[in-house]
Amino acid sequence: MPTTSFEHKVPSARRRVLAPPIPPEGEGGFTQTWYPICLSADVPEGKIVGRDFLDGRVIVFRGPDGAARVLSAYCPHLGADLSVGDLDDGTVRCAFHHWRFDVAGTCVGTGCGDTPPPRAKLFTFPVQERYGIVWAFNGEAPIFELPDFPFPDDGLAIRTLELDEIFPVDPWTFCANTPDVQHIKALHGISFENGDPDPDEFTWTDHSFRYALEGRLPSGDPIAYDLGITGTNIFYQSGSVNGRWFGFIMPFGIPYPGAMTSFMILAARGGDGDDTEAFLDSVQALEEAIVADDRPVLHTIHFRPGTTTASDKALNRFLQYVRDFPRAHPSAEFIN
Ligand code: FES
Ligand SMILES: [Fe+2]
Repeated sequence: MPTTSFEHKVPSARRRVLAPPIPPEGEGGFTQTWYPICLSADVPEGKIVGRDFLDGRVIVFRGPDGAARVLSAYCPHLGADLSVGDLDDGTVRCAFHHWRFDVAGTCVGTGCGDTPPPRAKLFTFPVQERYGIVWAFNGEAPIFELPDFPFPDDGLAIRTLELDEIFPVDPWTFCANTPDVQHIKALHGISFENGDPDPDEFTWTDHSFRYALEGRLPSGDPIAYDLGITGTNIFYQSGSVNGRWFGFIMPFGIPYPGAMTSFMILAARGGDGDDTEAFLDSVQALEEAIVADDRPVLHTIHFRPGTTTASDKALNRFLQYVRDFPRAHPSAEFIN
């Protein structure tokens, strides 16, 4: 029986140098963060929407108070997908045998008249609706809030859209772009005015980081951004291009491990002239151009930290933040 593996015979100079890997999402649970589930506009009153989430399935609908809810999708009776059911007097009614569930996920009636089994429950996620998106937190209770723009939401013109594209990576992979200084310069052609950002000067919390970027786009237009990541899946940017403020949040959802849905939230302040929509168009084009730069890499990368250099200091700090970020999967037994 061979006792020496092939690897032992490879000279060390010919081995790939690797840092500790980052466990893929789904290993040890999923990152505990707010995930975008769908656009608010996708869930008018009276409609049930089904979405893949965390390697399982959820339903989204509005309760009698109009508030959006996110519950596990598979009926505890025999597993029918409740997204093909309907809303009946404020309850979700399963299409298969007409069992009904209230917004707390409790079975309140069976179609046949049998007593609802007390253990026939759906999982209810913590939910909020903000920036035109229905968000669900992966956990029993949220451990942090969504990022705020520096102005009240109701004073902003906000445009939200969902990209019609699934990237074959976990969200943290794309979010690792934000502290990846080498790629900002090489791939996006952005120059830094004051040298490379130093992660020791970033603002780090246990669920976010932010840093200031002053520089120029490839077009020469000056930019000044406060940017960073919240959770491991929410890109945040607030700043100016050519001196005019805009806000941008790009959150990523996880339908299943190694896959990512993407949303864009664009914010502007109304001006005297009625050019806000045109300005949002230009910001959207700017951000879509950045994603277009990243697209071929994201569709093909086998991301894992390898041989890094001094310029990767911020990136390496972020990768450790991802390794340390809490993961859980409390809905696992319900959504599958
Ligand atoms: S599977 Fe839903 S009521 Fe039977
Ligand atoms: Fe990028």
